[in-house]
Amino acid sequence: MIVQELDVNWIEKLDNISHFIGNTPLFPIKNLHTNQKVKIFAKLEWQQLGGSVKSRPAFNIIKNAILEGYLTSEKSLLDASSGNTGIAYAAIGAALGIKVTICLPENASEERKTILKAYGAEIIYTSKYGSTDEAQEIAEDMYSKHPEKYYYARQYQNDSNWKAHYLTTAEEIWKQTRGEITHFVAGLGTTGTFTGTGRRLLELNPDIHLTSLQPDAALHGLEGWKHLETAIVPTIYDSTIAHQKLEIDTFQAYDTIREVASKEGLLLSPSAAANLAGVLKVASQIDEGTVVTVFPDNAEKYGEVLKNLF
Ligand SMILES: Cc1ncc(COP(=O)(O)O)c(C=O)c1O
Repeated sequence: MIVQELDVNWIEKLDNISHFIGNTPLFPIKNLHTNQKVKIFAKLEWQQLGGSVKSRPAFNIIKNAILEGYLTSEKSLLDASSGNTGIAYAAIGAALGIKVTICLPENASEERKTILKAYGAEIIYTSKYGSTDEAQEIAEDMYSKHPEKYYYARQYQNDSNWKAHYLTTAEEIWKQTRGEITHFVAGLGTTGTFTGTGRRLLELNPDIHLTSLQPDAALHGLEGWKHLETAIVPTIYDSTIAHQKLEIDTFQAYDTIREVASKEGLLLSPSAAANLAGVLKVASQIDEGTVVTVFPDNAEKYGEVLKNLF
């Protein structure tokens, strides 16, 4: 790694921000299953700067790009995002004084668009029919035309994405469960959460069982997840580490949102509820154990979904 001679200002700012990334609480889910020998926990990932699980990879990508000299104050950080990574880049970018340009499918929720604008990000809208696959193609095209203008972060291919989870999410889960975790479950988007956390957990204890989750159809409402059979598969995806691969139906996730709100006091996003639906399936397969997942974000940015559910 080429560590450039950095302005002490950058180092100080990166250090300040690092205290507000990760270290999220582990919430015990107590009221959705009856077998008391199976413990269920979820990390509340919205409790960090940038408001979602994507703050971890966004910060690691930005930090490494600055340290390696690829991202300077003259350039704009460019990437494709369905929302959360873009928001995390924009929040961290605002704190650091770095410009951010996001290629965003136009059907992203209004809340996401407003938050991105509030943090000062430039938004390039891409077709709602092309999802983040087309957004990636447009970002690639913009970068190839103006490489002097942008640092293209490529979250779907950037090793700093999965490594953020390898270095932080997995270690936190290991410490917070005092090494008692037996099962880890997570949905696949860029696949960074599952690949990075899973890899490190297997090193810490090779007996830990990993379950990856996907939507059950190409058209789904689980924002942030990818149906890998019909999408561009992220190059950071490690398909070999999952012991089990399950599919989750969007309506099952919606039912889980209602149940968790009334029984646990948490208002979850669709993908967080889908992770929990997967966890409950895994919990029903075992007699005892400690099953852990992440809740990538809460319902704050999903006003339309909530209006229809309640
Ligand atoms: C709400 C939400 N859930 C889940 C994911 C998937 O996480 P990962 O990209 O680490 O696979 C994302 C990713 O953007 C997301 O925004």
